[in-house]
Amino acid sequence: MTFNPLKIGELTAKIPIIQGGMGIGVSLHRLAGSVAREGGIGILSTAQIGYQCDDFEKNTMKANLFAIKEQFEKAKKIAKNGIIGFNVMVAQFEYEKIIRRCVEIGADVIISGAGLPINLPELVKGSKTKFAPIISSSKGAKVLLKMWAKRYQRTADFVIIEGPLAGGHLGFKYEEIESAANQMDSEVKKIIEIVNQYAKMFQINVPVVFAGGVYTKEDIKHYLSLGCSGVQMATRFVGTIECDAPNDFKERYLNAKKEDIEIIKSPVGMPGRAIKNTFTSVIKTKTIPIKKCRNCLLLKLCNRKDIPFCISEALLNAVNHKTEEALLFAGSNAYRVNEITTVKDILGNLTS
Ligand SMILES: Cc1cc2nc3c(=O)[nH]c(=O)nc-3n(C[C@H](O)[C@H](O)[C@H](O)COP(=O)(O)O)c2cc1C
Repeated sequence: MTFNPLKIGELTAKIPIIQGGMGIGVSLHRLAGSVAREGGIGILSTAQIGYQCDDFEKNTMKANLFAIKEQFEKAKKIAKNGIIGFNVMVAQFEYEKIIRRCVEIGADVIISGAGLPINLPELVKGSKTKFAPIISSSKGAKVLLKMWAKRYQRTADFVIIEGPLAGGHLGFKYEEIESAANQMDSEVKKIIEIVNQYAKMFQINVPVVFAGGVYTKEDIKHYLSLGCSGVQMATRFVGTIECDAPNDFKERYLNAKKEDIEIIKSPVGMPGRAIKNTFTSVIKTKTIPIKKCRNCLLLKLCNRKDIPFCISEALLNAVNHKTEEALLFAGSNAYRVNEITTVKDILGNLTS
């Protein structure tokens, strides 16, 4: 069985699979480049993307802006002519500066979530970069696309729907996660209807891509049958040689059992899904003082004094060999990752 390609404007991905952005440092040039080379879309996470640069601790923003270009160029080299883009969280400090940098260096696509990317069309205007919001509900889709139509007389180039089984931050209230999982299929259909209204209004094709808990070929077929044009997958790609996270991070996935995957409360103000460890049990009862602020989040979200822990520190520990002191973001399927294989194998298995 072969799937139809994913078409976003003039871009065509041979296979309709986007590799979801994974920060910090989990989806960088090796993973994104490899997925794109095999015909999918590779996404670099901009969250503290420069963490391996020498001056990262001294001048974090400068290192991050430098790394956006460096990682993109390296990914493009691996990808040959493949499609490479960025994931930028709305909650990120200097969001606009980061988006403008991604556009300036020629990103093929930008995917933006963890909040509603209200001024994204304005930031991308005049470029070839295609953009997508990450949306978790029909309400969010309605509000955002209506606002974009009114304010910018345009709509999204594509839309990512992220359901409650995803890894990392979730666009649901803590208490809604379980019930949302049962209603997600009907929500997907509603969102597609809304997107199609705007696609018709602006006479363009706006593909909708589903993310969150997609693991097998059957899962892909399911979301295509609901009317999606593709899927975004992240967790499964952690089990690859090319995934940019270090081996001790990947080993935590290999050793995780179903009951080891839990929901935590993040300082970003959203719940997040992660692998149980010493860190996740400590933050249930204690506050971990911030050692060093790297200005990663908007001040309105992170008031520094009252937050339970520093999200940057916790995610940096995950890729700096301190896996017990780290937040190990993972999707609900992380326990199914039981070997380290290659991107080519996974994509071959999903599409052949
Ligand atoms: C380790 C990890 C880190 C992630 N980091 C981000 C991120 O920085 N920004 C974002 O929008 N989504 C992030 N996500 C969500 C993914 O991009 C993706 O949409 C989601 O995990 C898809 O579900 P799956 O993991 O079940 O395939 C992350 C997911 C994982 C597993």
